[in-house]
Amino acid sequence: MLKVERLETGYGKKQVLFDIDLEAAEGKITAIIGPNGSGKSTALKSIFGLISVWKGAVNYKNKDITNRSTQANVKDGIAFVPQGNRVFDEMTVLENLEIGGFHLPKKSFQTELNKIWELFPELEKRKKQNSGKLSGGEKQMLALGRALINSPRLLLMDEPSLGLSPKLVTFIMNYIRKINHEFGVTVLIVEQKVREVLEVCHHVYSIKLGKIAYSGKPEIIKDDKDKLRELFL
Ligand SMILES: Nc1ncnc2c1ncn2[C@@H]1O[C@H](COP(=O)(O)OP(=O)(O)OP(=O)(O)O)[C@@H](O)[C@H]1O
Ligand SMILES: [Mg+2]
Repeated sequence: MLKVERLETGYGKKQVLFDIDLEAAEGKITAIIGPNGSGKSTALKSIFGLISVWKGAVNYKNKDITNRSTQANVKDGIAFVPQGNRVFDEMTVLENLEIGGFHLPKKSFQTELNKIWELFPELEKRKKQNSGKLSGGEKQMLALGRALINSPRLLLMDEPSLGLSPKLVTFIMNYIRKINHEFGVTVLIVEQKVREVLEVCHHVYSIKLGKIAYSGKPEIIKDDKDKLRELFL
């Protein structure tokens, strides 16, 4: 569904990613792991069109979408949940979801909203509350809900478990599995909670110093402590 070929990008004159080849297969969960500052977020941002691609190509549904606008990407079924559970604290839960689905006709918004309430009943109970009062985990669910309201086919997620307790990490991972399994959404997830993400993904890449250091099935590295340590050094 998503195919990135020989991608290079960075900020200003500083190159961050070199020769990145990666794929997110349709209907599957693909994970990107790797140390801090290795370029994981940069990869997602350049795929989604938040920063420009210097060289290489991003293909989605067999179309070249390199450097396409984020709006065009959203319209075409791509959603991005950025790092750090960002929601609008001064707005209610419902208002946050309305912003996410602002271009949907009223009727389809309502249909999609009902699906979100079904997925996250806790959010429905708190729909009129200011989002600033939600816990970290609840904010993450709201950020996820805001992305899902547009019924994406490809969901890009940057460290959804950041700052969450171990219990909530498992909770979020189960939701990701559910979204993938029940709605058939293709997922590309960046995650530092390696053990947990290796349990849910079908394929894993490791990015180290801006290059792909590993690509393979999670089972192969899951129990290999030395390999995992190597990928993080
Ligand atoms: N807006 C920016 N301007 C300049 N340099 C940046 C910017 N954002 C990131 N960088 C640099 O690009 C490199 C890769 O950053 P990136 O955020 O992609 O890493 P990451 O793998 O997501 O790290 P983390 O696990 O800490 O989130 C780092 O050296 C970082 O300092
Ligand atoms: Mg990051």
